[in-house]
Amino acid sequence: AGPCDIYADGDTPCVAAHSTTRALYDDYSGALYQVTRGSDNTTLDISPLSAGGVADADSQDSFCSLTTCLISIIYDQSGNGNHLTQGPPGGFDGPDVDGYDNLASAVGAPVTLNGQKAYGVFMSPGCGYRNDNAVGTATGDEAEGMYAVLDGTHYNSACCFDYGNAETSATDTGAGHMEAIYFGTSTGWGYGEGSGPWLMADMENGLFSGYASTENSADPSISYRFFTSIVKGEADEWALRGGNAASGSLTTYYSGIRPSGYNPMDKEGAIILGIGGDNSNGAQGTFYEGVMTTGYPSADTENSVQANIVAAGYAVTSLVSGPTLTAGDVVSIRVTTSGYTDRWIAHTGTTVNTQVVSSSSSTTLKEEASWKIVEGLGYSGCFSFESVDTPGSYIRHSDFVLLLNEDDGTTLFATDATFCPETAMDGDSSYSSLRSWSYPTRYFRHYENVMYAASNGGVQDFDATTSFNDDVSWNITTAFAT
Ligand code: AHR
Ligand code: AHR
Repeated sequence: AGPCDIYADGDTPCVAAHSTTRALYDDYSGALYQVTRGSDNTTLDISPLSAGGVADADSQDSFCSLTTCLISIIYDQSGNGNHLTQGPPGGFDGPDVDGYDNLASAVGAPVTLNGQKAYGVFMSPGCGYRNDNAVGTATGDEAEGMYAVLDGTHYNSACCFDYGNAETSATDTGAGHMEAIYFGTSTGWGYGEGSGPWLMADMENGLFSGYASTENSADPSISYRFFTSIVKGEADEWALRGGNAASGSLTTYYSGIRPSGYNPMDKEGAIILGIGGDNSNGAQGTFYEGVMTTGYPSADTENSVQANIVAAGYAVTSLVSGPTLTAGDVVSIRVTTSGYTDRWIAHTGTTVNTQVVSSSSSTTLKEEASWKIVEGLGYSGCFSFESVDTPGSYIRHSDFVLLLNEDDGTTLFATDATFCPETAMDGDSSYSSLRSWSYPTRYFRHYENVMYAASNGGVQDFDATTSFNDDVSWNITTAFAT
């Protein structure tokens, strides 16, 4: 049985069921999600390998080979048609065209389920999905349950990495107009024990870790790589439950009455992912699967769902491909775009650019064009690039411009400075493309001889699709200077 078969057995059936990794019903063999590729803007639906099974990641990999892919639809498996698509502007604009949110990369969150590869939804700040016309979800003070499996190590403190029930207008219509899972380190409203991240319930104009609108020490900091998060609510009652999605059982972090000002609720029934009710879109996180139910699921039902999630066998897998990079090596990195192949990644002060470098260049220029590969400051499975002439300074993106900055010790710097090599987009197996860990739609790209973290199409000039594959393909060689 799948999670939604278990909820149905408990008389609290799923009214929305979303996952890019697997079918959530035993007999579901329809599309799980749609990807759109950058090369020609065509789409492909990704389905399970068999009914009730794991997503066919190989079909995505072939379709997306030598180009970029975005997750453009996360299909609803419940039959209600509650699909999630690119979030529209609301109280806040997203960063994409016409104020829409960004779509997530299809390759930012690879995992295995019992050894079979699948992809989660890695959402950078600015990403968001929504359905403002959902059918069958709770409205008013009606009861509902929900769970989501998230990456417990990918979060930030911005508003709001949410999954669940929100306003149909994408604007803040007041306390009680939302009921969604929140995950992260926001302390602007409630917070839990320690330094976070925490599971909280977003009930609009408030993230709640328990009854009190501030700290609730029973709401623990989460450190599970895969985190099962549960929020449920009915008339003057709600609960927060959670556990390790890879083993063991659930713990109840809160169960009790509504906070003051939130009884009765005014739920509106739209569905959000990765954003706040008003389309606040500064948060980040990773979603693998989740559902919304009608009725207030029993703890027994949820415990069976947790057992089902554990049995799915979520595990981490590699984020890199292509030529092997080795921490400790010192390299120089050559442009491969025709007409520019005498240029190498270098820096002039804090500007990271490409410059013509050769064996007869000055020692100063050779050092400016040489980089020490180190273990990724923000993720140990990827890499960072430390300047040879300025140790302690690394290539990082800031407003998607690559800069050479001194490590300031923050998590933001570390993740801005972390890049995952993959097989080069131009198809030459001896070259690499260097994908941003924190914005996996973006790659090291030269544009007018300056370096950017660029997406394949987008609102900035340097996101131009023309010449993208060549501009993001790099020949990583022995360094000019060590
Ligand atoms: O409740 C927290 C946030 O406050 C909501 O997600 C958003 O709509 C509002 O800004
Ligand atoms: O960076 C040099 C060139 O600038 C790139 O190849 C092109 O995309 C842009 O015109």
